[in-house]
Amino acid sequence: MYTQLEQRSMAEPPVNVSTLRKMKQDGEPIACLTAYDASYAALVDVARTDLVLVGDSLGMVIQGHDTTVPVTVDDVVYHSRAVARGLRHAFLVADMPFMSYTNPGQALDNAVRLMQEGGAMMIKLEGGAGQVEIVGHLARHDIPVCAHLGLKPQSVHKIGGFKVQGREPDQARKMVDAAKCLQDAGADIVLLECVPNEVGQAATGELDVPVIGIGAGPHVDGQILVLYDVLDITRGRTPKFVQNFQKDHDSPLAAVQAYVLAVKNRTYPAPEHCFS
Ligand code: KIV
Repeated sequence: MYTQLEQRSMAEPPVNVSTLRKMKQDGEPIACLTAYDASYAALVDVARTDLVLVGDSLGMVIQGHDTTVPVTVDDVVYHSRAVARGLRHAFLVADMPFMSYTNPGQALDNAVRLMQEGGAMMIKLEGGAGQVEIVGHLARHDIPVCAHLGLKPQSVHKIGGFKVQGREPDQARKMVDAAKCLQDAGADIVLLECVPNEVGQAATGELDVPVIGIGAGPHVDGQILVLYDVLDITRGRTPKFVQNFQKDHDSPLAAVQAYVLAVKNRTYPAPEHCFS
């Protein structure tokens, strides 16, 4: 019987959680991007992106909102299902939107939707030490989890803007300790957004699971960017950590291939993309 996995090339098996862990152990950078539809999913897959995230950034880049707060579980399921159809090789992660994981039961119900209806292989949620119980509950049900720390865009109205996190030594220590607690509770990946290089480096050194960064400096195990930032089609202010890869290339595929190569050979991020 045909399954999606069997249709994939077994000469180059699809990426899974063990592949990502081995890449960390081997020091091979993990190249990650967001995608929101089947066509771009196929494009980033062909470009050999290792991990594709259906981020709640879709609220901003697809739906035109100012924040990710309005995004619903139905929205992520819809986009994740489309992206899943475009992938053959990359590992698919889907975001748990704002207020979709306020308690373990609700988190499990929504994670199951993202996996069963959306085809996700892992879910991502924003949080620190306060999410240990929820991550533990998901892990006990064999739901793979990516824990997103640092700048948490779903908390934008609480923190008063999209700001670098962990600049104070005690904040930085708390963040790395929270990441360790989440790992111990069962998180399989940690994602750090907008933190000084030193925080990315400390978390990467202290954690066994892969640490993926967005504005977290060059020392993390992998990098992720919003696809539309890479292609320079995002409206508004460009964050410091973004590099426009479309500038020197004549097709979206060539731009994404250049991004993947730059992550793999560690020429991205450059010092101008980093926080101190
Ligand atoms: O929603 C998203 O796209 C994300 C990335 C910015 C990491 O969380």
